[in-house]
Amino acid sequence: MLEQNPEPTAAGDQVFYDDQQADRSVKQQGSIERASNYDIVPMFPCPVYISGEKFPVEDGVEGGEQAKQGFREFVSNEALGQYKNGMGNIISENTHILDRPELSNLKDYIQKNLNTYAHEVMRIQDSCEFYITQSWINFNKKGMRHLTHTHQNSIISGCFYIAGGNCPITFFHSSSPRFGMGGGFDFQYKDHNIYNSQSWWLNNENGRVVIFPSWVQHQVAVNTHEETRISLAWNSFFKGSVGDRRSLTELLMNNQFD
Ligand SMILES: [Fe+2]
Repeated sequence: MLEQNPEPTAAGDQVFYDDQQADRSVKQQGSIERASNYDIVPMFPCPVYISGEKFPVEDGVEGGEQAKQGFREFVSNEALGQYKNGMGNIISENTHILDRPELSNLKDYIQKNLNTYAHEVMRIQDSCEFYITQSWINFNKKGMRHLTHTHQNSIISGCFYIAGGNCPITFFHSSSPRFGMGGGFDFQYKDHNIYNSQSWWLNNENGRVVIFPSWVQHQVAVNTHEETRISLAWNSFFKGSVGDRRSLTELLMNNQFD
C-alpha cells in the first residue's frame, strides 16, 4: 500500500542542461485507485472530455427551444450543399462552419471548452494557444454510420451534438501498441475495465461537446432513429511557443524569432 505519494521521476532518457530544466519534465502523480489490498496508478491515460455546461440546443433547456429552431433552420440551409464523404455519412460543404456569424456563440462555447481541455486538463502553458482550424456538420440519416477514423493534421478534436437520438461514439485502443499487454494478445477477460478494453463508447448528448486527442481512432454507430443525427465536428492546431531555447527544442508558431 502506498502511504504517501512516491517521489516523481524525471524522464530517464533525456539530457538536460541543469536541474531547473530537469524539473520541467517531472510528471505529477495522478489519482490513485485504492482497493483493499493494493493500489493502482492509472498513469498515461487518454483523456476524453465531456463538457459540463450545455449549449442550449435542446427543448426543456432555458433558451433551448428557440436556439434549436434557429439551429435547425441554419442546418437545413447548410444541408443544401451537403455531400457524401465516403465515410458512411454526409458532411456540410462548408468546412469552416464555425466562421459563420450565426455560430459565433457556439464557437465561443467550443473554444472555451478547448481551452479548458488544453490548459486545465493537459496543463499546457498559456504561451501555447489552441485554435480551431476546420469545422463541419455531420448528418447521419437513419441507417448511416461514421466509419473508423482519426483526425489528421490536428492536435485536439471534438464533436458538438446538435440533434438526434442516442447514437454512441466509440473510441478504440486496439490500434495502440499498448493494447493486449503490449503485444496485441487476445486475452479473454473476466470483465472489462479501462485497462483491458479495446474500445470504449460514450453516449452523445445534445448540447454537449466531447473533446479528444486527434490521434485516437473512433467511429459512430449506425443511426437507428428516424430523426437525423446532427453533430458539428472540428479540428485544432496550436500557435505560440513550445519547447525550450536552451534545450534546443524551441518551436515558435506564428511568432518572430528575436
Ligand atoms: Fe471524428
